[in-house]
Amino acid sequence: MQVIHSITELRHRLAGQEQTAFVPTMGNLHEGHLSLVREARQRGGPVVASIFVNRLQFLPHEDFDRYPRTLARDVELLTGAGCDLVFAPDEAELYPEPQTYKVQPPAALPDILEGEFRPGFCTGGCTVVMKLFQCVQPRVAVFGQKDYQQLKVIAGMARQFALPVQVVGAPTVRADDGLALSSRNGYLGQSERHEAIALPQALQALAARARDGRAPREALEAEAMAALAARGWAPDSLTLRRRRDLLPPSEAERLAGEPLVALGAARLGATRLIDNIEC
Ligand code: PAF
Repeated sequence: MQVIHSITELRHRLAGQEQTAFVPTMGNLHEGHLSLVREARQRGGPVVASIFVNRLQFLPHEDFDRYPRTLARDVELLTGAGCDLVFAPDEAELYPEPQTYKVQPPAALPDILEGEFRPGFCTGGCTVVMKLFQCVQPRVAVFGQKDYQQLKVIAGMARQFALPVQVVGAPTVRADDGLALSSRNGYLGQSERHEAIALPQALQALAARARDGRAPREALEAEAMAALAARGWAPDSLTLRRRRDLLPPSEAERLAGEPLVALGAARLGATRLIDNIEC
């Protein structure tokens, strides 16, 4: 497997390829990322993964500086998973000048959920993915469903800009106890790691009551947040949303079987975890 750091060399290497399948990552890879590579492999063309920690999608107080950079280990893992090429630009290569042109998703999506707590996250993510798409020019790009809102926003961007790339979502990979795999799980201490399964459990409980007509949605959500807070978490949000646009369902929709997703974001100590369960 080849590791390429420059856009020019990448374009040269991929010239004439029309079936490239792409897995964008920020590195520090785990089994969840490798499952995306395996999904990409099914598509028949060469598989390209990118590794780039994207400053634009971090807030100033967030973990950009301490985000683990583990290129050598990542390359080994990608080789084992059948990736053909890694694109690992440094900041000067991808952002040689301040990136003042940005992709701004419509307010309804980035200002809710993650965007409410991490303003700029969706714009920063979309901007880098648009730029990576220009570099790699894939036919298919695979994203994890764990970042449910990101997947929706990127799919919307590809659709509205008529990008010639099919955006595919792949299922969340979980540890044996149910915790969604995430690079940020590595920040958890031992007792926090045990406690962390309370987030998927709270989402399971919320999802199980999604059609409960005895309580309004807001009450179900408040109960789920309070239960997590009582265990020492600082929940940002636990909420039931329509899968199609991530907006809150009306009570009629909720009770009539509208496809929903229970989304959660909460801090355990210094670590912010997100997860979701479709229901
Ligand atoms: O999901 C991620 O790891 C990042 O948000 C992505 C898509 C690689 C963009 O930086």
